[in-house]
Amino acid sequence: MPPSSDIPDPLLTDAQATRARQLEKHAGFIGMATGIAHDLNNYITAIQGNNAVIQRNPALDTRAVECGQRINASCELGFHLANQLALYSARMEANPESVDVAALVARLRKATTAVLPRNVVLDVDVATPSPPLVADPELVLAMLVNLVTNAADAMVDRRGLIHVFIRPYKAEAHDATNAFFDLDTKASWLELAVKDAGLGIAPDIRDRIFDPFFSTKIRGRGMGLPEVLGILRMHNGNIIVKSKTNTGTRMRALLPASPH
Ligand SMILES: Nc1ncnc2c1ncn2[C@@H]1O[C@H](COP(=O)(O)OP(=O)(O)O)[C@@H](O)[C@H]1O
Ligand SMILES: [Mg+2]
Repeated sequence: MPPSSDIPDPLLTDAQATRARQLEKHAGFIGMATGIAHDLNNYITAIQGNNAVIQRNPALDTRAVECGQRINASCELGFHLANQLALYSARMEANPESVDVAALVARLRKATTAVLPRNVVLDVDVATPSPPLVADPELVLAMLVNLVTNAADAMVDRRGLIHVFIRPYKAEAHDATNAFFDLDTKASWLELAVKDAGLGIAPDIRDRIFDPFFSTKIRGRGMGLPEVLGILRMHNGNIIVKSKTNTGTRMRALLPASPH
């Protein structure tokens, strides 16, 4: 019989047991997210399609046309959510290719201009020579945008530096206990890390930050880190979080290093 999560296994350390519980919890969430994403897509497709048919009626008055536009806008939000759930469940298709890291960084800067407060500087440090990266460029960009957005949100006095590092990473033995997924410390990794000097993550919510819909923000949707997790899963990657309240956070996303 497989060990039940509520019976402590004496062979596991506390950290290993916490990680095992996290993975088990997420396996349940992922099953649910997969089902919801699929059904949501079907329902919204039907709503949007039928709305489009109604909107083609030339007899509609302005009010009815406006209602139709609102229905359509809600459908788009619904599709976006379904897409985020599909990303979290790693049910999307990744299209890996050799990524031009300089172009990726340029796109990251462009995509995050709007979320960075005026006095927050994004400092990007790419190893030289630029490390080869084989991944889905759109997904890796989405992952970095999520991490930088969270870092920007955490900068309480809205000033300071956010560091992004893209460089080879040599995993250490203790990383295996801190990583979200099982980590092969002997494998070659590439880190895409985002480090902020923000408010940090309180220890009592550390176990929940990757949960879908978990947010501590007034307007937070709580789908950023689940999306990051799904993208990493699609790439056989991993993530190591280090955070200290009122000091800052480092999110170290790891992707398998590509051979030269
Ligand atoms: N860099 C960070 N610094 C502090 N807290 C963070 C950071 N990144 C994530 N968090 C915490 O994790 C939660 C979940 O993040 P996320 O899934 O992106 O959702 P959202 O940004 O919509 O709240 C955040 O609400 C916040 O509490
Ligand atoms: Mg976020």
